[in-house]
Amino acid sequence: MVKEDEILPKYWYNIIPDLPKPLPPPRDPQGADFSRIDLLRSILPKEVLRQQFTIERYIKIPEEVRDRYLSIGRPTPLFRAKRLEEYLKTPARIYFKYEGATPTGSHKINTAIPQAYFAKEEGIDHVVTETGAGQWGTAVALAASMYNMKSTIFMVKVSYEQKPMRRSIMQLYGANVYASPTNLTEYGKKILETNPQHPGSLGIAMSEAIEYALKNEFRYLVGSVLDVVLLHQSVIGQETITQLDLLGEDADILIGCVGGGSNFGGFTYPFIGNKKGKRYIAVSSAEIPKFSKGEYKYDFPDSAGLLPLVKMITLGKDYVPPPIYAGGLRYHGVAPTLSLLTKEGIVEWREYNEREIFEAAKIFMENQGIVPAPESAHAIKAVVDEAIEARKNNERKVIVFNLSGHGLLDLSNYESMMKRLNGNG
Ligand SMILES: Cc1ncc(COP(=O)(O)O)c(C=O)c1O
Repeated sequence: MVKEDEILPKYWYNIIPDLPKPLPPPRDPQGADFSRIDLLRSILPKEVLRQQFTIERYIKIPEEVRDRYLSIGRPTPLFRAKRLEEYLKTPARIYFKYEGATPTGSHKINTAIPQAYFAKEEGIDHVVTETGAGQWGTAVALAASMYNMKSTIFMVKVSYEQKPMRRSIMQLYGANVYASPTNLTEYGKKILETNPQHPGSLGIAMSEAIEYALKNEFRYLVGSVLDVVLLHQSVIGQETITQLDLLGEDADILIGCVGGGSNFGGFTYPFIGNKKGKRYIAVSSAEIPKFSKGEYKYDFPDSAGLLPLVKMITLGKDYVPPPIYAGGLRYHGVAPTLSLLTKEGIVEWREYNEREIFEAAKIFMENQGIVPAPESAHAIKAVVDEAIEARKNNERKVIVFNLSGHGLLDLSNYESMMKRLNGNG
């Protein structure tokens, strides 16, 4: 038996030095009244900021953080989905890395822990962030409680109303949770003035969290998109490589879903950087069509424009997702490194609609038993399609995907999909 401690990596992997082209750096808008790059020093914990701008390939994971990773069940399991293979009558072998196994139910905790740790180390006692469905907010609330810090979470209003259970978990971990837009910030007030019924968006909630952190001299923790987050998430891919090695398997096709891009980058970049695997498929939603309709340009990660401009595939910082869509992955942009890798043709992208991901989630549930997060169901749909393709071509492909979270607190999403899609028969 190989011990957990030997599978859990000692370093985070940073793909930036191994990219095919230089990554366009974050920058200040032309003629701006203040420097967003300077402002980052008051927004992010110092060490998080340092890691955001590092060009080192490997960064040592502090022992304290490794211990926390072990305590939440890292390394997460790598399962073979044998019944799904049989159901699909595919010669392919299908594996999944199960990030739903952590206490918060998703991969988000992998970066919440180090960011909270670095904040605590520099004497911060209160952290702030935004959340959509609540996976990120839950991760931050738990990480803050691990380090005896307070946490304030700005939760997108529609989710706040539709997801009372995630709100409860955050509160049980000790967080204050507000429905964004709030009137606690100038930006929130401005949005409410123009439309008091505004359902909120991740971009707005992000701006509110940053403004609130700045005003109170708290620190902001960032959940996706920025390079430092994908760096921390590289534990996923590195563990997967070791776990496949132990099985004597070589991955052919690697698949993950994309909101801001953090679970996908964390999962695939150690493979891409080490020239392992042959194809990488980033899956997103047809209802929030970043890849097919987004533009590759400098844009703000948050709606108020408090963060520096980053070059990414984006639907625009003021994008408001369709309120009826229950599949997640609502963020308007794609992490700059992932945007570059798809533009360079190294990573393929794909979009599926709600019906497709719902049907894939059901197939997965009926065969493997795990309720996937609706976000992760996007990846599952691509896995199903690739497994069928392998059957048609009679190829013994090894397909590995990241099951980024479980969906036990997303049953209301599935319920509304069932009703809308009439698929409950
Ligand atoms: C379970 C799960 N998977 C995926 C995502 C998408 O985010 P990212 O692309 O940053 O991994 C989220 C976002 O909240 C999530 O909760």
